[in-house]
Amino acid sequence: MTAFLFGLAIVLLFASAVGFGAPFLPTLRKRVEDAVDLLDLQPGQTMLELGSGDGRLLKAAAKRGIYGIGYEINPLVYLYSKIICFPERKYIKIYLKNYWKADLPKADGVYVFLLQPYMAKLHKFLVEYLKKHNKTSIPLVSFGFFIEGKKPIKDENGMLLYKITVSDKL
Ligand SMILES: C[S@@+](CC[C@H](N)C(=O)[O-])C[C@H]1O[C@@H](n2cnc3c(N)ncnc32)[C@H](O)[C@@H]1O
Repeated sequence: MTAFLFGLAIVLLFASAVGFGAPFLPTLRKRVEDAVDLLDLQPGQTMLELGSGDGRLLKAAAKRGIYGIGYEINPLVYLYSKIICFPERKYIKIYLKNYWKADLPKADGVYVFLLQPYMAKLHKFLVEYLKKHNKTSIPLVSFGFFIEGKKPIKDENGMLLYKITVSDKL
């Protein structure tokens, strides 16, 4: 019975992320470098990852000298990512937080792998983020899911690059 309840708690923990953005499903390893390439950040710049999962994107970016700030809502996945990213800790910060409610710091690019129903909300959220930080634009890479009504700059087999601007029509 204890094992069953423990198992159920774990399943609910992972499933509950659907209500906030997306459940834990990591970007395919072979697509991780594509995502970092598309964002095209330079060493010393900063990438935000909203729903940072096991930290594989943050780690790949850190290996190129790019700082990474991740937000992860699932405590188990968060803990795992902290361990995995320990060697690159100089470059990576991960917060156990709901990114919709976080005070996101200034950054140079954003990576997400969410779910389609959250993309419109994300678009609006990032336009507000730009206003708050007095930025005119920011590149966004989204794996698998598109922003309705906005044309991506590039689409590399489902890895979509957008330029989110403060004047985007929502
Ligand atoms: C599809 S996975 C992608 C993980 C990682 N970005 C990757 O591409 O490998 C989405 C992640 O976002 C997390 N997540 C979902 N909603 C969130 C929220 N509102 N705040 C923080 N993390 C969230 C989930 O727990 C999950 O780990």
